[in-house]
Amino acid sequence: MKPIIKTPEQIEKIRRAGIVNNQVLDAVDAVIRAGISTEDINRVVHEKTLELGGVPAPLNFEGFPKSVCTSLNDIVCHGIPSEDVILMDGDIINVDVTTIVDGYYADASRMYCIGQVSPEAKRLVDVTKECLELSLEAVRPGRYLHEIGAIIQAHAEKNGFSVVPDICGHGVGLDFHEEPLVFHVRRRGKGPKLEPGMIFTIEPMINAGGSDWFIDADDDWTVWTEDGSLSAQWEYTVLVTEEGYEILAR
Ligand code: MF3
Ligand code: CO
Ligand code: CO
Repeated sequence: MKPIIKTPEQIEKIRRAGIVNNQVLDAVDAVIRAGISTEDINRVVHEKTLELGGVPAPLNFEGFPKSVCTSLNDIVCHGIPSEDVILMDGDIINVDVTTIVDGYYADASRMYCIGQVSPEAKRLVDVTKECLELSLEAVRPGRYLHEIGAIIQAHAEKNGFSVVPDICGHGVGLDFHEEPLVFHVRRRGKGPKLEPGMIFTIEPMINAGGSDWFIDADDDWTVWTEDGSLSAQWEYTVLVTEEGYEILAR
């Protein structure tokens, strides 16, 4: 259950995976708009990843059928791209990209507002990013892992939103998901003390309504909000450095 401390050689490899992952998300930035399908996003991610010498980690991961997760509106995470899902004016969507380069992993996701979204949807997207950014303050040697979730939960609830408590960030780099679990809510105890060389994701999922969710019975992947309210998520891969942190993928 110990967080893995990466060697300088491993860190350099994961940094490279992060650069490719960022470039893949930049390619999504360039094409995403009303009228395209989530399968179009999948195609861009798949082709850009291969062009840059990477492998899309989601494809065939525990049976996941596509190269990226696309989570629209009231989907919390793990949405499956489809030719039938067309982005429309007013939608919010999370695109979650994980890339393997030379055997090493980086994982990040961004939110996109399609056309003119409601002020409430925009506020949810912005507050969720603020939660992630504010939590970085706790990422430095000598601080404790559970401070991250406390910061995220306080900021989300101050803004009238709820945090999905039971889907966590994770160690990443040598594998897709490693120790430690990174909670996005307050937890008992301090958690592990942060040390240079730890690499993990922070990826809060924040709902406009309640925090309950369920998994789609038909596809066994899609996580929906129980009450149909909007959900937003941002994800970075971060490295604990001597001075604080470095964002390896965003
Ligand atoms: N990228 C997700 C995460 O942040 C995991 C997706 S698993 C998949 O941990 F199979 F759905 F791709
Ligand atoms: Co992740
Ligand atoms: Co991810």
